[in-house]
Amino acid sequence: MCGIVGYVGSEPAAPLLLEGLGRLEHRGYDSAGVAVLSSGKGLKVAKKAGRVRDLEAALPKRFNGKTGIGHTRWATHGPANDVNAHPHTDAKGQVAVVHNGIIDNASALRSELADQGIDLASDTDTEVIAHLIAASDAETLEGRVSQALARIEGTYGLAVLHADFPDRIVVARNGSPLIIGVGDKEMHVASDMAALVRYTTTVVHLADGEMATLTAHGYTTYREDLSATDRVAKKMDIDPTAYDAGEHESYMHKEMLEQGEAVERTLRGRLDERFGTSHLGGLNMDARDLRAIKRVKILGCGSAYYVGQMGAMLIEELARVPADAEAASEFRYRNPIIEPDTLYVAVSQSGETVDTLLAAQEIRRKGGRVIGLVNVVGSALAQECGAGIYLHAGPEVAVASTKALTTMYVGFSLLALQLGRVRDLSIADGKRLVEGLKDLPRQIEEVLALEPTLVEVARRLASAESLFFIGRVRGYPVAREGAQKFKEVSYRHAEAYQTSELKHGPLALIDKTVPTVAIVPDDELADRNVASLHEIAARGGPLVVITHPGVDLGEIRDHVVRIDVPRNERELDPILMTIPLQMLAYQAAAQLGRDIDKPRNLAKSVTVE
Ligand code: AGP
Repeated sequence: MCGIVGYVGSEPAAPLLLEGLGRLEHRGYDSAGVAVLSSGKGLKVAKKAGRVRDLEAALPKRFNGKTGIGHTRWATHGPANDVNAHPHTDAKGQVAVVHNGIIDNASALRSELADQGIDLASDTDTEVIAHLIAASDAETLEGRVSQALARIEGTYGLAVLHADFPDRIVVARNGSPLIIGVGDKEMHVASDMAALVRYTTTVVHLADGEMATLTAHGYTTYREDLSATDRVAKKMDIDPTAYDAGEHESYMHKEMLEQGEAVERTLRGRLDERFGTSHLGGLNMDARDLRAIKRVKILGCGSAYYVGQMGAMLIEELARVPADAEAASEFRYRNPIIEPDTLYVAVSQSGETVDTLLAAQEIRRKGGRVIGLVNVVGSALAQECGAGIYLHAGPEVAVASTKALTTMYVGFSLLALQLGRVRDLSIADGKRLVEGLKDLPRQIEEVLALEPTLVEVARRLASAESLFFIGRVRGYPVAREGAQKFKEVSYRHAEAYQTSELKHGPLALIDKTVPTVAIVPDDELADRNVASLHEIAARGGPLVVITHPGVDLGEIRDHVVRIDVPRNERELDPILMTIPLQMLAYQAAAQLGRDIDKPRNLAKSVTVE
């Protein structure tokens, strides 16, 4: 969704801002804009609906200034057009604001400004901020922004320029990420590390309610009441090339292939072979705390929710603690009961998904204990939870999540193992699972090596208008994730069902034009699963079966393709069974010519409710 960049230093700002915006394109957006400031020449703004390259082409020749801000907008208030694009300015063109988030009291503020005779140029909530700053009588820019923020309710990451203060950018954060990048005689700001890494990996993550002033010579941080805070910049352990697609035709492809090494990083230093358990220091819980947990509730959105379902089943199986997962986007709206002895787990790659963040805040507000299972270090959710498990999957750029989801399941496995081993999971079972987890990176490489054999299968699936993905028990969330990935990047209708539920309705849709992708691990349900495949085959439905070597599919001969993945411990089946589904989705989308890394209508981080 929306992205922010800013620069102050000795270089012309515009090219740097455009480059930074280009690195935020994956977040999803529909318009872009930049504003620059130079002493004596005032504020210049350029904005355009469409891609960053359209903005670049439309930029006036003399667009000079060494202080600047930029934005990619994903429309919420008003359509995607040039006027609604950020930056927004006040009536005199003195103030420019870029903003991520939503101002909840925007319509009241818009009416108030209109009553004062101020014409609002756009339909956006953001524009009111520029007018409020312009109306402030404070002497400093910091004071003006602070006064404006006191009038605002909602969430924001924002950056402000003012023609009277050409040496600085003032930024503020409340619920929407902002990261300051510390350079050599220059400062950067962005809503995502991806826009900073080319220039610096020394950063400051602002906290909610914090502001900062950036000049070429450094930064100061303070609260919204202008009292000082002392944020110290930290050098991040990030390989800047991790944000490049390199030789890969897309980020999704690159990130799928990185899954073995990502899992290795998630596991590093966390397995205890001697006691058959895991160490998760970030939980800040000792064995007594872990034993006191009576229930586990997992909250996430989209694919993170589906992995949460896989995780809940695993926790229940290994720790014998009741566990379930719920879409975070629904949870908050049903006034949930928050129990003191429930462990709540908020799961998110980005750590920015607003529904997951608000669910965590609601739980904490009611006194519940919530931990994060998060990939992005220092993200809003990680800060909110304060305790949890970092995934260490590395940066994930493609909208379609792959390696982050795989590491989420590994994270849940580590949690389930630890919860199990402080209860009744035997040391032998613990050791068995530790060995299984250690085998995963190698086995993931084996599954990834299947890709060339999947091209033709994917072609057949891509030619169907509608598909089913089916599975039972731990295979069902795998099917849900498979359907999600397929529809997300191929735009084909893909529906997930419990295999056992097919004959209660959807079997009516099966014919030779509707393929079914079935998850059939070699587990206690294999025979029942195979019986359901026969029912599909008998109605002419083409089948793609993700299974294990040795599973006997019986007499099904026609229109069936089997994809065998290596065996691991059955509790870990979801990981290796999900990866072929990613590859099928990817190959189908590639053959259909889809914009794989930027699927239509979708954004990498969903930062609006
Ligand atoms: C995954 O492929 C999707 N793009 C989407 O469902 C995603 O998992 C969801 O929006 C949650 O994102 P998060 O993990 O960053 O919270």
